[in-house]
Amino acid sequence: CVDIGTLYKDTGYFTYDPGYGSTASTKSAITYIDGDKGVLLYRGYPIEQLAEKSTFLETSYLLLNGELPSKPQFEKFSNDITHHSMMHENLKDFLKGFHHNAHPMAMLAASVASLSAFYHDDLNVENPEHRHLAAIRLIAKMPTIASAIYRHSIGWPNRYPRNNLEYVTRFLHTMFEVPSEAYHVNPVVAKALDLLFILHADHEQNASTSTVRLVGSTGANPYASVAAGITALWGPAHGGANEAVLLQLEEIGTADKVENAVKRAKDKNDSFRLMGFGHRVYKNFDPRAKIIREACHNVLNELGVNDPLLEVAMKLEEAALKDDYFVERKLYPNVDFYSGIIYKALGIPTEMFTVMFAIARTSGWISHWIEQHETPGSRIGRPRQIYTGADVRDYVPGDKR
Ligand code: ACO
Repeated sequence: CVDIGTLYKDTGYFTYDPGYGSTASTKSAITYIDGDKGVLLYRGYPIEQLAEKSTFLETSYLLLNGELPSKPQFEKFSNDITHHSMMHENLKDFLKGFHHNAHPMAMLAASVASLSAFYHDDLNVENPEHRHLAAIRLIAKMPTIASAIYRHSIGWPNRYPRNNLEYVTRFLHTMFEVPSEAYHVNPVVAKALDLLFILHADHEQNASTSTVRLVGSTGANPYASVAAGITALWGPAHGGANEAVLLQLEEIGTADKVENAVKRAKDKNDSFRLMGFGHRVYKNFDPRAKIIREACHNVLNELGVNDPLLEVAMKLEEAALKDDYFVERKLYPNVDFYSGIIYKALGIPTEMFTVMFAIARTSGWISHWIEQHETPGSRIGRPRQIYTGADVRDYVPGDKR
C-alpha cells in the first residue's frame, strides 16, 4: 500500500499494482492457469486433451456453456452458427470505404463495433436470450468479416460462406476461393487452423479479455465490448506478437544472426525484445507453445513446406533457453512464437495473423462478457490511481504567467 500524499490524505490508502500483476479483478469459472506448473484448463479440461480430441466449435460451446455438448446440443449450436454466418450486405459497403492498405485489425475493430448498428434486436444486455444471440452472431460472423477484409485488401470480389462446410473449412473457403476456379480446402490446413483456434480460444484475464470486461461493466453492448477487446489484442505485447515474431524472424534472416539478436535483446539500452518470448503468468513454460511447437513441425512436414525461418526460430529458442538472462527472468517461448510460422505455411498473410487470433479469442471474450452479466452484484470497473501531480494552487490570469 502506498500513502497517496499530503493533498488527499484522508481519502485513505490504495493498493498500487502497476500492470495488475497481483490484482484479481473478478471471479471466473471459465479458465484456470497455473503459471508455475504450466497448466491451462478450459472449464476444467486440460488444454492438451482439448487440442487432441476437441474442435474449435465444440470448445467454443464449452467455454460459453460450461459443459461439453451432447450430440443434439452440438448439432443445434453448429446449425445456429451456420445460420448466422452471413454478414449484412451494407457491411461490405462499409468495408469498401477503407483503403486497400489499411491494417486488417483496424478494419476488424471498426466492423465489429459497427455490428451494434446493424443488429438492434439483441442489444438488451439484461436479457439472457439477447446475450446468447449476440454470442452466436459474433462467433458466426467473425470468419466472414475476416475473409471480406482479406479479399478487400487484395482486390478480390467478396464470397458468401458455404453452409455445407464446417466452421474452419468454411472460413478458409470464404477467404481463399479463387474467382472462377474450383477451390478445395486442404484438410491438413483446416485441422491445423482448428488446433490454433482451440489454443487461442481463451486465457482468463489477459489484457484484451480484461478490456472486454471493463467495457462490459459499463453496460456497453456486446459488439462494442468485443471491438474494444480487438483493439487491445492488436498491440505487439499481446496478440500482435504473432505478426511481430514473423517480422522479427524475417529480419534476423539466417541462423548465424541469432546470436546477435539475443545480445541485442539483453541490452537494456536497446528497446529490442525477442518477440514471442516471456509471459506475465507462465514462468516455467507455456503449455500452448509446447503443443504449437510440435504441430509446427508436423504441419510443415505434411504440407512439404521447407521454411528457413523454422531453423532461425529453433536456433533462437535454443540460444535463449541456454542464456542466463532469459533463464533468470524465466522467459520462455509463448503461444505466439511458433504460431506465425504455421500461419505462414497455411498461406495466411502476415498482417492477417492477429485477425486469426481475434477470431479464436471471440469465443473467450463473449463467454467472459456473458459470465459478467450473469454474476449478481457485478460493479462497474473503476481502478484508482496514485496522484503525482501539482498540489492545490490558484489560477493565474494569462497576462501574469
Ligand atoms: N525479450 C527480452 N527481455 C524481455 C522479454 C523479451 N521478450 N520479455 C521480458 N523481458 C525482460 C524485461 O526487460 C524485464 O527485465 P528486467 O527485469 O531486467 O527489467 C523482465 O524480462 C520482465 O519483463 P516485464 O516486461 O516486466 O514482464 P511482463 O510480465 O510485464 O511482460 C510480456 C510480459 C509483455 C509478454 C513481455 O515478456 C514481452 O514483451 N514479450 C514479448 C512480446 C510477446 O511475445 N507478447 C506475447 C505474449 S503472449 C500473448 O499475449 C498471447
